[in-house]
Amino acid sequence: MVEVADAIETARRRVLAGLDTGPGPADKDAASFRRRLDAHLPELARLFGGLYGTREDWAEQLTALVQQAARSWADRPAELKVLDAVREQDTGWFLSNKMLGGVCYVDRYAGNLDGVRDRIPYFRELGLTYLHLMPLFLAPEPNSDGGYAVSSYREVNPRLGTMEQLRGLAAELRANGISLVVDFIFNHTSDEHEWARKASAGDPGHSDYYWIYPDRTMPDAFEEHVREIFPDDHPGSFVPMPDGRWVWATFHTFQWDLNYANPEVFRAMAGEMLFLANQGVDILRMDAVAFIWKQLGTPCENLPEAHLLLRAFNAVCRIAAPSLLFKSEAIVHPDEVAQYIDPAECQLSYNPLQMALIWEAMATRDVSLLAQALERRHNIPAGTSWVNYVRSHDDIGWTFADEDAAELGINGFDHRRFLNSFYVNRFPGSFARGVPFQDNPRTGDCRISGTTASLCGLEDGAGQAVDRILLAHSVAFSTGGVPLLYLGDEVGQLNDYDFALEDGHGTDSRWVHRPHFPAARYARRHDPSTPEGAVFAGLRNMIAVRSRTPELAGTRLLDFATKNPGVLGYQRPGDGTRILALANFSDLPQTVEAATLSGFAGDALDVLAGAPVSLARGIVLAPQQFVWLRVTPLS
Ligand code: GLC
Ligand code: GLC
Repeated sequence: MVEVADAIETARRRVLAGLDTGPGPADKDAASFRRRLDAHLPELARLFGGLYGTREDWAEQLTALVQQAARSWADRPAELKVLDAVREQDTGWFLSNKMLGGVCYVDRYAGNLDGVRDRIPYFRELGLTYLHLMPLFLAPEPNSDGGYAVSSYREVNPRLGTMEQLRGLAAELRANGISLVVDFIFNHTSDEHEWARKASAGDPGHSDYYWIYPDRTMPDAFEEHVREIFPDDHPGSFVPMPDGRWVWATFHTFQWDLNYANPEVFRAMAGEMLFLANQGVDILRMDAVAFIWKQLGTPCENLPEAHLLLRAFNAVCRIAAPSLLFKSEAIVHPDEVAQYIDPAECQLSYNPLQMALIWEAMATRDVSLLAQALERRHNIPAGTSWVNYVRSHDDIGWTFADEDAAELGINGFDHRRFLNSFYVNRFPGSFARGVPFQDNPRTGDCRISGTTASLCGLEDGAGQAVDRILLAHSVAFSTGGVPLLYLGDEVGQLNDYDFALEDGHGTDSRWVHRPHFPAARYARRHDPSTPEGAVFAGLRNMIAVRSRTPELAGTRLLDFATKNPGVLGYQRPGDGTRILALANFSDLPQTVEAATLSGFAGDALDVLAGAPVSLARGIVLAPQQFVWLRVTPLS
């Protein structure tokens, strides 16, 4: 067995031998590569050894990986190397309070990549600094799980444009201060990917790229412990292949899980990752991270090796595409979500717990669970950030911890049942217009689809629905992290009940909340007498205020007990001052008593209204009202 130290030495020697060290810019380039290699190769080798060290060929695999990284660095465009150097000096750039994210489908929002480029003036009007374009790669037609089944990571879906256009768009976004975020769908490929085709044709090398078995023995053994993600599509985790073999497909039948126990798969995907990095992508959304490693006898989610893999991919980036960052998509138990967040793993992460609990508090008019989550689960390591959102392209799942709920006397199972019935409007008095997703009568599981506005009841009239939309966003915009808007929600877009008429969308109710660009609503956005105008004005104010409120940078949060179950409170510490956020989730006016506020100087500033307020007599909040107060702690 080759020792880690020897593997490092061999890889280093062979890679450096291949570096161009002539005089001139190439020399400087090579020097910076060598510096990063020295800094990160030991860690990469340790991780790679941890994953593959029992294989005879692991050191050669490592050398090949590092050689590939060196080639990728050599190919990296000069302007991206400039960005690498800038961000090396400013590693916390994404923690700024000026960060604002937006997400959209290229085709649905703008037709194609050129259409996205045409919307840059609007993105600037809104203040976007981060744009997540939903999967835009070559994919099966008509159903590709919204692009999450990739047939080639190096080809843009021809309906949307070309790789050259994507590069051009990335450059233009960058010139406008907007970082490009795309998905790295690395848990699986589509069954039309070249590797999958070769595997289907029986090629043994490529069959090893996936989890393929000749009969049901192993599938049955694995399925004893794994959960079903899309039970509407297929039961269990395996699907039959035309030749009678069985292949692992966690999501849809046409999304085949990659076998990372094979180091060649790691190397191949590292190559695809670096290719994307060199197109000018700033952040990769690491799709379905929980599922990337399998181990018989376990649930095959969140295994320790999943973290080794992410860290190894991250180390490859530090060497060959140093400014690239990862965002984790782990929609799992909050303890597990936290495990992926680390400067050496995923610097950013969706905050699914906060998202779900915003909706939970809105339904119950009680902030206890949300306040508890902020208190104990919000703070994450320095140099990392949440991505806070009200809803995404996916369903809302109630991912809170049952243990947390139990402490508050809430039964998790019953509470999820209540929330599901509330959001699909089966609960008396519900304002929500959601739709069930993957309703599984066998397990009682169900998740919720719907746009923000429809879930807030905008279909039934403006008033409180507009207030609820703004209330929900106020939390995502101020607790700490990058706020991520689902584009179109800023003008209150409604559910698309015709979604099933579109080819390939059939029974997947998530399409109800992925409507086409709501042109008429956007046209009315500057008229505050319309609901879309009111939502837009409210969000614009939050965005503007956030960007000039330094206390709202970063993610650090201090809890604040409002002593009122209808009112959420938290503090964001700044230099001497703090922002105290208070948000009334109830349908009645609520008071936060003067005594509760007595730790602060009496004079405060309501930064959203731009007006002074006195804390001396307490604060009264109208239903759904929220305030961000600049306060000065006494002592
Ligand atoms: C991610 C995506 C989701 C997709 C799944 C499979 O969770 O967000 O839309 O269905 O991965 O790739
Ligand atoms: C599950 C998965 C998540 C995926 C979602 C799609 O929650 O954990 O990765 O996005 O399903 O519905």
